[in-house]
Amino acid sequence: MPILVRPENMERITTPELARAFIEEQVADIREQVGEKKVLLALSGGVDSSVVAALLIRAIGRQLTCVHVNHGLLRKGEPEQVIRVFRDEMDANLIYVDAVDRFLDKLAGVSDPETKRHIIGKEFIEVFAEEARKLDGIGFLAQGTIWPDILESEAGIKAHHNAGGLPDDLKFELVEPVRILFKDEVRCVGHELGLPDGMVYRQPFPGPGLGVRCVGAITRDRLEAVRESDAILREEFAAAGLEGKVWQYFTIVPDFKTVGVKDGRRVDEWPCVIRAVNTRDAMTATVENIPFELMSRIVDRITHEVKGVDRVLYDFTPKPTGTIEWE
Ligand code: XMP
Repeated sequence: MPILVRPENMERITTPELARAFIEEQVADIREQVGEKKVLLALSGGVDSSVVAALLIRAIGRQLTCVHVNHGLLRKGEPEQVIRVFRDEMDANLIYVDAVDRFLDKLAGVSDPETKRHIIGKEFIEVFAEEARKLDGIGFLAQGTIWPDILESEAGIKAHHNAGGLPDDLKFELVEPVRILFKDEVRCVGHELGLPDGMVYRQPFPGPGLGVRCVGAITRDRLEAVRESDAILREEFAAAGLEGKVWQYFTIVPDFKTVGVKDGRRVDEWPCVIRAVNTRDAMTATVENIPFELMSRIVDRITHEVKGVDRVLYDFTPKPTGTIEWE
C-alpha cells in the first residue's frame, strides 16, 4: 500500500543511493496499487508532474497515459521539450492537446487578474476532462502532489486543489508517488530517473503561466513579446552561470506603450520589465544584484530581437511591497 504520511524519521533524500532506493520502493508500490489498470496524468512539464510521469513510466510503461495541454501560456520550447523527453525518449503514451486558440479566445478582452486565473484554471479542467472521457478503462489518476502541498492545505495556507475540479464522473482513485517528498527530494529523484537538468532544476512557474506576466488583457502579439523576452533572459542568465543561483527570473510586458526611436524613426512600443528575485519560501523576496554588463547585453538583445519592445526596465522592488509576479 502507498504511504500517505511522511514518516517522522524518514531520511532526507539527498544522494543517488537514497533516490534509487526510493524509486525501487515506489515502482513496487505503484505496480501493486495499479495492477493491470490504466492511469491518467496531466503532464505540464513542471518538476512534480514530470517526475511522477517518469516514475510511472518506469513502473507500468504504456499503462500510463499522459495528457499535455498546451494553453498557449507556456515558456518558449516547453511543449516541444515535453514531447521530446516523454514521447521520443521515454516512449510514453502521450496525448498532446493544442488548446492555444481555445484559451486565448476565452481570455480575449479580460483584464482582471483574478478573472484571468479563473478562466485559465476552469478551461484547463474542461480540456483535461474532455480528453479523459475519450479514453477507455482508466482506473487511476496520477498527481504530482508533494509533502508541502499536504502541510500547507492542512495549515489552511493554500487550498490543495490538485484533485479538485474534475467532474464527478472522473473521480478516479489517486496515485501520488511523490506525496511524501519535499521539493529538493523530488528533484533528486528526477535526476536519478534520467530527466534532463533543464526540467529537474527549473525555476518555479505559476499555473497560469505567462498569462500573469502579460499584464492586462492578453493579446497574442504582446504574449509573444513576453515569451521571447523571457527566453532571452533565461539564455543570458544561463550563459552567465546564474541558472539555479537566482531563485526566479522572468519578464513582464504591461499593456501600455511608450515613445521610442528605432532606425531613426519614432515608434510607439511596449516597455519590458525584468524581475529577478531570491527567496526561501516566496513569502518575502529580495532583488538580485545583476552585473551591469550582463544587464546591458540583455537590454540590447530584448530591444533588438523582441518585436514591439522599445524599452527595458528592472524591477528593484523587494517583496514586500511588491509581490513576485505582477498579477
Ligand atoms: P507572488 O506573486 O504571490 O508569488 O509573490 C509567489 C510565488 O508563487 C508563484 N505563483 C503561482 N504559482 N499558481 C502557481 O502555481 C499561481 O497562480 C501562482 N501565482 C504566483 C510565483 O511565481 C512565485 O514563485
